[in-house]
Amino acid sequence: MHTGIVSPKGVWWVKAPKAERIWVMIAFAWCMVLFAMMPLWHYRGGQNPSGIRHKVDPEAYEARTLEFVEQYRVGEESGIAVVAPPPGSDIYMLGKMWQWIPVLKLQAGVSYTLHLSSSDVNHGFNLFPPNINFQVVPGYDYALRITPNEPGDYKVVCNEFCGIGHHLMLGRIIVEEGPVVAAGGIQ
Ligand code: CUA
Repeated sequence: MHTGIVSPKGVWWVKAPKAERIWVMIAFAWCMVLFAMMPLWHYRGGQNPSGIRHKVDPEAYEARTLEFVEQYRVGEESGIAVVAPPPGSDIYMLGKMWQWIPVLKLQAGVSYTLHLSSSDVNHGFNLFPPNINFQVVPGYDYALRITPNEPGDYKVVCNEFCGIGHHLMLGRIIVEEGPVVAAGGIQ
């Protein structure tokens, strides 16, 4: 008599047929390929940002941003300063519940070093429409070397839940036509 507790005598299971064993091996080999791609793509994928990261005191970062705002302020938009920094400069954006400070006015084809940080909680910098994402973390200055390549009106959407006003946290980066690049051909 057999119960569920006592196993039956003999070989009661069915051995995997050859085809099944081959497929298991193929699947395992593919798992290993994908596993290897994770570290490999980190170096080969070309998607890593040109970030310069260092620790920063959140208050010092906010003070630096406000100093930058005062220096290059050209206007105001719904209570947020509009800033037009000179080409090639270090530019600052601060994530703070629930605003992106300031509104940046940049030029296409010009390089800047964009600093991102927060003075309170984690925020998410999502440049829209190109859909470029960066974490904005208090205590860390995340500086990116950027060259806007298309004039346009870009939005900065916060994509990290940061409290009751998260959905209202919308910033703006305006990219204007840059310096005229000499056309090729007859000079
Ligand atoms: Cu800031 Cu969500």
